[in-house]
Amino acid sequence: MKVVVIQGPNLNMLGVREQHIYGPMKLEDIHQQMKNFADQNGIEIEFFQSNLEGEIVDRIQECLGDADGIIINPAAYSHTSIAIRDAIAAVEIPTIEVHISNIHAREDFRKKSITAEVCAGVIAGMGPFSYHLAMIAILQIMQEIKAIKEQQQQQQQNG
Ligand code: DQA
Repeated sequence: MKVVVIQGPNLNMLGVREQHIYGPMKLEDIHQQMKNFADQNGIEIEFFQSNLEGEIVDRIQECLGDADGIIINPAAYSHTSIAIRDAIAAVEIPTIEVHISNIHAREDFRKKSITAEVCAGVIAGMGPFSYHLAMIAILQIMQEIKAIKEQQQQQQQNG
């Protein structure tokens, strides 16, 4: 089972940007923790960060036929990008949206995520731990889908 983690604009600045909101942890440290969880659970994992909308769309499309789950923090694009939303909907891969901060407790323009509407679930406001919770969620979803597929194969074989 493979998970692709996609990080949107300015998340490469974690540990530097607005520490009172996002905390002191760097993106590479978050990724290391996710990698540890993935290794412990036999999941393959890849990381991608971009500040460019089109590159994020491309990376989502590349997941087709490759990834079993996506974890995405579209960052500011959550509130604006129909292109990223359409890409998530297009690939039909279970996707968990993550926000470090509680977007519902911030400025009005952050309260709506148009990308979240096509995701299986959203985890927000738990700081960097949001990513760990997303790993638990995506693992559960991927295991359920795998079990259903295996059951279907078994039924086909049995005629
Ligand atoms: C964010 C919340 C967004 O509103 C903001 O633009 C970000 C980070 C978060 O993780 O809390 O860049 O996605």
